[in-house]
Amino acid sequence: MGLVLGIESSCDETAVALVDTDRVIHAQRIASQDDKHAPYGGVVPEIAARAHAERLAPMIEAVLAENGTKLADCDAIAATAGPGLIGGVMVGLVSAKALAMASDVPLLAINHLEGHALSPRLADPELDFPYMLLLVSGGHCQILSVEGVGEYRRLATTIDDALGEAFDKSAKILGLGYPGGPAVERLAKEGDPQAVPLPRPLMGSKEPHFSFAGLKSAVLRAHESGEHNDADIAASFQQAAIDCLIDRLEHAMKRAPDKPALVVAGGVAANQQVRAALENLAGSRGMRFVAPPLALCTDNAAMIAWAGCERLALGQFDPLDIAARPRWPL
Ligand code: KG4
Ligand code: ZN
Repeated sequence: MGLVLGIESSCDETAVALVDTDRVIHAQRIASQDDKHAPYGGVVPEIAARAHAERLAPMIEAVLAENGTKLADCDAIAATAGPGLIGGVMVGLVSAKALAMASDVPLLAINHLEGHALSPRLADPELDFPYMLLLVSGGHCQILSVEGVGEYRRLATTIDDALGEAFDKSAKILGLGYPGGPAVERLAKEGDPQAVPLPRPLMGSKEPHFSFAGLKSAVLRAHESGEHNDADIAASFQQAAIDCLIDRLEHAMKRAPDKPALVVAGGVAANQQVRAALENLAGSRGMRFVAPPLALCTDNAAMIAWAGCERLALGQFDPLDIAARPRWPL
């Protein structure tokens, strides 16, 4: 058994978790900064970094105390080292380095995307490699073939906005709050998904990638035209987004066939309509559909600790001088 302390601070969630290689989450804390960023309609990097710096140390203490664990009892300290907002990433990584040095515990510098990619295996012991992963959040929009720890093949990414970002921007256009995804989903329930003709960017394209900027602009035009009610716009936007997701996944499945499971991660996985469409797609392909509990889908530290557990089991550690990376493709 190995025990890993995980730290996540790459966006607007400060999170700390204690997880072991037997998939037990012993303790965790997560502090959202939604209230701090809401007035700006998006995450403000400077505000995020300051909030991480204020909150992280007491949260680490609380998680260790809750489990009666001393730092020196941990087998590794895993922190997100990128990609993300560099100020926040540095707060987390520098804290982890200091703790690792002070308590003589090895450091694991985790790619945040690797955390998302491996977290479904924390929730589901039956999930073996390889699997196809749709990672859809505010910052990421990718299809990955997850073939092993450290073995990821990116099959598609977005050429402009991430899907969660498109939800957030559409919500802003419609005067809904931040984060926009849940608000758009709620409003869409009252609307007609066929009412507003919206584009499906890159649908049917030979290119593998996603694009959502044009869809968001079309939402703006539909709203400004005054011809449609907001619920219809929300429902039509959501439907267009789902159509794009399914089309791009089908494209990816042609290039990387025979994956036993389709897995979804990232905040947009909270969307019930998105989940239903993915489940349907998986079923039609004879694939198992795996959607981890929501708390593991959105940014959290258990996924970073778990990625650390997977690396610990392989004996992979990082040097204390490893740098934080704002951009770090898998
Ligand atoms: O994974 P996450 O917590 O943070 C990162 O962006 O990494 O994802 C947050 C994103 C936001 O863009 C939010 O609007 C979106 O996930 N989201 C949703 C829903 N819940 C959260 N999008 C669509 N429908 C939802 N129900
Ligand atoms: Zn994330």
